[in-house]
Amino acid sequence: MKEFERVFLDSLKGTTVPMDTVLGHVAAAKGKRLRPRLVFLSALLFGDINDSTRRTAQFVEMLHTATLIHDDVIDESDIRRGQATVNAVWGNTTAVLSGDYLLTKAMKILSNPVDLEILQDMLSTVMMMVEGEVLQSGKWSVESGNTESKYLEIIERKTARLIRSCCVGGAMSVLSEKTEDRRQKIEGVGEFGLNLGLVFQMRDDILDDDDHENTVIAERLLPQYLDKALKSLDALAPWVKDRDVLTRLRELTVFCAERNH
Ligand code: IPE
Ligand code: MG
Repeated sequence: MKEFERVFLDSLKGTTVPMDTVLGHVAAAKGKRLRPRLVFLSALLFGDINDSTRRTAQFVEMLHTATLIHDDVIDESDIRRGQATVNAVWGNTTAVLSGDYLLTKAMKILSNPVDLEILQDMLSTVMMMVEGEVLQSGKWSVESGNTESKYLEIIERKTARLIRSCCVGGAMSVLSEKTEDRRQKIEGVGEFGLNLGLVFQMRDDILDDDDHENTVIAERLLPQYLDKALKSLDALAPWVKDRDVLTRLRELTVFCAERNH
């Protein structure tokens, strides 16, 4: 993570003064780095971290950063990670374009031939996230009748899919084509990531308490999805070389369910 941090901050740069200034501002406030951590831990379940794992970790955090910049435009938010948002300081045009710049820069990091399978999964995820944002936006969502299944579809798309892709991408980066049970390992870690992502967003909705109907649904569903996440993690045990990595992932899962930030 120390090396990840150095490389990541070094890549949040532009070649012109405006873009460089905006990205410097974005770099000044750190997130939890949950997504790259999941890439590394998922790789370590099945092998040793390699350059493809490192690129995947850089990709997911940069993509995540781009989505936050765009999300703050959509939600007209002024504050993110304790500082002013890009849209609040420089306006929506700069925010939309700097988000586009980071998304493109991220895709460039992962456009190495050996990363193609990971890139394709990530791009499907990005498309799902974008459709999820439109689905939940004021223009299209029906105000009343928030059912559990509608809630689950939206949080899967906007949050859980990317968290799933972090786990899948980490695993793919270390499992060569010839690996035995490759498909099942990737599906297994993906199942864990999806459940973890749902738990993560449910906890987020409980902390935010933006939409009370959603908070009530999240409170009801969180325990059962935490249980699912932990069970899908246990199911990986027979394939895992280093049990300590499973323990770390278990701790991270409980953190996501109980966190206060
Ligand atoms: C915030 O994600 C956006 C959601 C998907 C809820 P994080 O809570 O992971 O944001 P940072 O990176 O830690 O700021
Ligand atoms: Mg939002």
